[in-house]
Amino acid sequence: MKFFIDTADLAEIKSLASSGLLDGVTTNPSLIAKSGRDFKEVIKEICSIVPGPVSAEVAGTEYEQIMKEANVLRKIADNVCIKVPLTPDGLRACRHISDDGTMVNVTLCFSAAQALLAAKSNASFISPFVGRVDDIGWDGMQLISDIVEIYQNYSFKTEILVASVRGPNHVIEAAKMGAHVATLPPAVLRALFNHPLTDKGLAQFLKDWQGTGQSIV
Ligand code: E4P
Repeated sequence: MKFFIDTADLAEIKSLASSGLLDGVTTNPSLIAKSGRDFKEVIKEICSIVPGPVSAEVAGTEYEQIMKEANVLRKIADNVCIKVPLTPDGLRACRHISDDGTMVNVTLCFSAAQALLAAKSNASFISPFVGRVDDIGWDGMQLISDIVEIYQNYSFKTEILVASVRGPNHVIEAAKMGAHVATLPPAVLRALFNHPLTDKGLAQFLKDWQGTGQSIV
């Protein structure tokens, strides 16, 4: 399973990139606004830190405007992945941008039917938002399970990018289902490391080691 990080915070990205665990980055207009930085500059900087796909979302909703913005964004770096909304215009743009050889991430997916449309539009990634589905009392992980089954039935190349992840359980459930990617808020990626028995075991080992009076170097 690939791990993308869901943030536009450069300090977080630099820190987590050094872990060797990052395969890509996703951003959205809300995350860019939160960063307080210039959109294109931030994307350029992120692309220079993380070699994998870096999703940059268009702001336009009409086909022509989406294509104009995509043409600007795709020139920022080779690893820019154009993020388009799951709308008729967004999917029409997806088809053309993909055919031109640029990766496309179709975002704001909330149903298996939408995911099917994105795969048929040649998307590189489909982003189902599991947390937001859970938020309205539906089952976000059932959505992932449905998409995995449908994509496997037809051997679609589109990768399932589990988005709106709220905690480690979403990641584990998605991994069990075989989703290709999870995009994680930094806090969720850090939480994956945690287990109280690891902390307890390490404290005991360190105490016992100090008791030996030895040093390795
Ligand atoms: C994914 O690409 C989105 O940026 C993100 O996962 C949305 O998550 P949220 O529902 O926590 O805003």
